[in-house]
Amino acid sequence: MYLHERTDELEKIKRYDYGTPYDTGAVVQNIVISEGVPEHFEYDDVSETFSYRLKDRDLVFGLGETLRGINKRGWIYISDNADDPSHDENKTSLYASQNFLLIDDGREAFGIFVDNPGSVTFDIGYSDMNVMSIHPMYNDTSFYVIEGSDPLEIVGRFRRLVGKSYVPPLWAFGYGQSRWGYKTADDIREVAAEYKKAGIPIDMIYMDIDYMQDFKDFTVNPERFPDFENFVSEMKKEGIHLVPIIDAGVKIEDGYDVYEEGKQKGYFCKKEDGTDLVAAVWPGKVHFPDFFKEEVREWFGDKYGVLTDAGIEGFWNDMNEPAIFYTEDHLKEVFEQVKDFENRELDIWGFFDFKDVLGNIANNPEDYKRFYHDFNGRKVRHDRVHNLYGFYMTRAAGEAFLRNHPDKKILMFSRASYTGMHRYGGIWTGDNTSRWSHLLLNIQMMPALSMTGFLFSGADIGGFGSNTAEDLMLRWVAFGIFTPLFRNHSALGTREQELYRFKHTEDFKHLIELRYALIPYIYSSFMNAVEKDEMYMKPLYFEYRDVERCREIEDQLLVGDDIMIAPVYEQNRTGRNVYLPEKMKLVRFRSVTDYDEEILDKGDHHIRADLGEVLVFIRPGRRLPLAKPAGHVAELDMKDLTFISFE
Ligand code: GLC
Repeated sequence: MYLHERTDELEKIKRYDYGTPYDTGAVVQNIVISEGVPEHFEYDDVSETFSYRLKDRDLVFGLGETLRGINKRGWIYISDNADDPSHDENKTSLYASQNFLLIDDGREAFGIFVDNPGSVTFDIGYSDMNVMSIHPMYNDTSFYVIEGSDPLEIVGRFRRLVGKSYVPPLWAFGYGQSRWGYKTADDIREVAAEYKKAGIPIDMIYMDIDYMQDFKDFTVNPERFPDFENFVSEMKKEGIHLVPIIDAGVKIEDGYDVYEEGKQKGYFCKKEDGTDLVAAVWPGKVHFPDFFKEEVREWFGDKYGVLTDAGIEGFWNDMNEPAIFYTEDHLKEVFEQVKDFENRELDIWGFFDFKDVLGNIANNPEDYKRFYHDFNGRKVRHDRVHNLYGFYMTRAAGEAFLRNHPDKKILMFSRASYTGMHRYGGIWTGDNTSRWSHLLLNIQMMPALSMTGFLFSGADIGGFGSNTAEDLMLRWVAFGIFTPLFRNHSALGTREQELYRFKHTEDFKHLIELRYALIPYIYSSFMNAVEKDEMYMKPLYFEYRDVERCREIEDQLLVGDDIMIAPVYEQNRTGRNVYLPEKMKLVRFRSVTDYDEEILDKGDHHIRADLGEVLVFIRPGRRLPLAKPAGHVAELDMKDLTFISFE
């Protein structure tokens, strides 16, 4: 049992309640409610806004999966889980809501956690450069203030508040190939065979929506995948785990068991009038299971058994913000409005209005107000608890895995999330684009995910949307080898980006082999972070708080306790500037066996890094273990290690 009972520890966490907070499941400790206004903050009852005067030297970290840099100052972030594939710096929301922030001026630090499952706006010096204001759309909030002497202590305390992070099976630390577009068993066989031919290690091939029959959850298209069970074991013999996608929406189709059962038992989300909401996603019209009800979670969670019975051991949960292409009700309104426009002279404003009507059909905020949940007996309109939906879908799966496979670890990661979901699965960071700036975004997002306990995370390597390029792919893989979830995924219609398709296949092979050789280090650092509530990836500042320069370093990271990395994330570079906060040993890897070492002094360096090379810096007194590369994680000898040390 995970309990954190030291009262002196608990005293460092204060909870202040507003309105009638929901029991979201984010927090696993019982913290007594304090009276008054949260320390460090002022509270305005009228606008229901918390504000904090930012000190000049305050750095602000956290918020998990959000855009922009490591220091969150200077922008507005809205926790409002969104299905939005354009991850531009002017956006305010992504797929996740992880409302934990840490504020530190170098001498005094504190953390806050805003447990509110509706939309919450974090204006961090955007409206007023010196003020951070926090405004929940609906004021039912538990506001936690976490004290501590430094960032790592505060993160640890927060993590004990929200519970242990999810641990996937060891093989999930291998490399995974995915693409929206693999349609048949033969498509997948071909990918597996090409990886084998190229000698590139691989452990997973992901199955996107086309494996299903008409995009129906828990079905497999029998023509595309004849004898699925045999296919799963055939792939397993090749050392490959198949990882299918599961979407939130259940297709409305007579005779489809999931639909029929859900309908009959009243398991779908209802509108005000008590009828089931009709929305549309990939399968066409769907109902959304009401994952807020325990009974529904049990039912839906057990459905994963259809696939685990066939030998599947991992899943990714998608479209669970939930993404809505349209609702039947809204579409009716749109058609009415379009009729009006037909008879109107469309001047510029009229035309803009017309475009708005058509352009705002998907994920329309009004649609999130059309349905309700049964949340512990309380009828709650969806938008008030919106950010919990993906969490509870994944919880349904996680609870079922514990119930039905208590001795087994099952791979699970989700697109939408909220704090607390980190106990049931990891996340991938959604539909990024094949852009250099999104490689940097990936680098800068990882430590924030580590802070919030979403340790098993990663981005779509190479970029999901648009066409990737070989140099971008090489640089992205060179960073991706350090992220716990390591998956190459791309969208339908984009350039194919399986690693064997590129000219420098050997370089990719060396990079993936290096990942496998590093798994003993990556896995032990990951497990250490889980067990001790620590971070797997850290900004330099967290360990070198007294080194002034580290306040601003946002493109070098500490991975585990022993190494620092400095990825190249710009095109046409043959190296980069690196700042060393202390003397370190540089290891420049061309492959697991071909590397050079150099001891570098504290300070600024320009370091050469050609395409395909990886820079690792070993901290003083630490060592980096390397296993012999293997084609699959199961073949790795985790004990036969060589060490590169820096005494
Ligand atoms: C969503 C997912 C993406 C997936 C696609 C098709 O866009 O984020 O990863 O490939 O749906 O299922």
